[in-house]
Amino acid sequence: MNNKIKIGLIFGGMSPEHEISIISAKSVYEHLDKEKYKVYSYYIDKNGFWSEVKSPEKLEERKSNPAPFIAFKGVSPFIEVVDIFFPVLHGPYGEDGTVQGIFESLKIPFVGTGVVGAAVTMDKVLTKKILEADGIPVADYLILWKNNDILEEPQRIKDSVYEALKFPVFVKPSSSGSSIGITKVKEPAALPSAIKKAFEYSEKILIEESIEGAREIEVSVFSDKSGIRVSIPGEVIPFNEFYDYEDKYELGKTKFEIPAKLPEKLVKKIQKTAHDSFKILELYGMSRVDFLLDKDNNFYVNEVNAIPGFTSISMYPRLWKESGIGYSELLDLLIQSGLQRYE
Ligand SMILES: Nc1ncnc2c1ncn2[C@@H]1O[C@H](COP(=O)(O)OP(=O)(O)O)[C@@H](O)[C@H]1O
Ligand SMILES: [Mg+2]
Repeated sequence: MNNKIKIGLIFGGMSPEHEISIISAKSVYEHLDKEKYKVYSYYIDKNGFWSEVKSPEKLEERKSNPAPFIAFKGVSPFIEVVDIFFPVLHGPYGEDGTVQGIFESLKIPFVGTGVVGAAVTMDKVLTKKILEADGIPVADYLILWKNNDILEEPQRIKDSVYEALKFPVFVKPSSSGSSIGITKVKEPAALPSAIKKAFEYSEKILIEESIEGAREIEVSVFSDKSGIRVSIPGEVIPFNEFYDYEDKYELGKTKFEIPAKLPEKLVKKIQKTAHDSFKILELYGMSRVDFLLDKDNNFYVNEVNAIPGFTSISMYPRLWKESGIGYSELLDLLIQSGLQRYE
């Protein structure tokens, strides 16, 4: 069969979500219909070195030695053999427009959003600024920059800032994911260590109002040249106090409610907001829009993930499944959407 579409699956990467990317890629690999596709697996190690491997399951079975991208491109069958790339990278150096930029500049088809949507949604501050400018509700926040670090300020300045905050607050790196570097802070005394931790991951961080007792609602979005589709909303019910790293990947105690139990009118509003956010942020192909819903059913867009988790238990494919599109069919649609990109 020579007419199979050749897919270049890219995973791993230099972000703290390296391992999660491998798990997502295993699942994507497994669900790609091998009658339709020939899959090439490209692994990026934690140093940013690329190599071709047998599959995401078999990283040790290398087909080429790890090399920096430019060198790798020279030695490995890569751009020349692949019809479309499928980046399954989470976090910086992959979900943020950098890898997408390689493909866009060479006009090579790839799955998912382009440079602008990926770069903006990787940055929580920019995402909020753009959304709120268009009237999309987001939680209140304060921005801190590393080169203008509040911890270096005189005590009276720190005190005035801390007094102005309404605790509890969430301290988060602007560009991270998987809850890495995020702390819920209940009192001023706990702020400095939370701020330090967030700065380990990002030059810019947020101190955000906590939506207390919030329900976490997520919507999957897909688009191709014919338009944008949104899934039914699902609810994440974390085991821990908030949906932290352990909850996401270690404990397996998180509960999911799909579809989320919400009044029909609210479902429509949330879906419309997911659709509008996707459009405003110039996303393409896929994204998961995450909401916080307060006790009075006011909702806020919390964040948008340009390359959402893709394990078989991940919300993105599960929400589509419950909306009538199975995992393999979803991959078909995403690939077709990516192939239409430059039309
Ligand atoms: N403002 C907030 N109010 C209440 N909970 C929040 C708030 N911000 C974050 N959280 C909690 O922290 C989790 C991770 O934060 P999030 O902004 O989604 O970062 P990440 O990109 O790491 O997933 C959320 O899923 C939620 O449980
Ligand atoms: Mg999140």
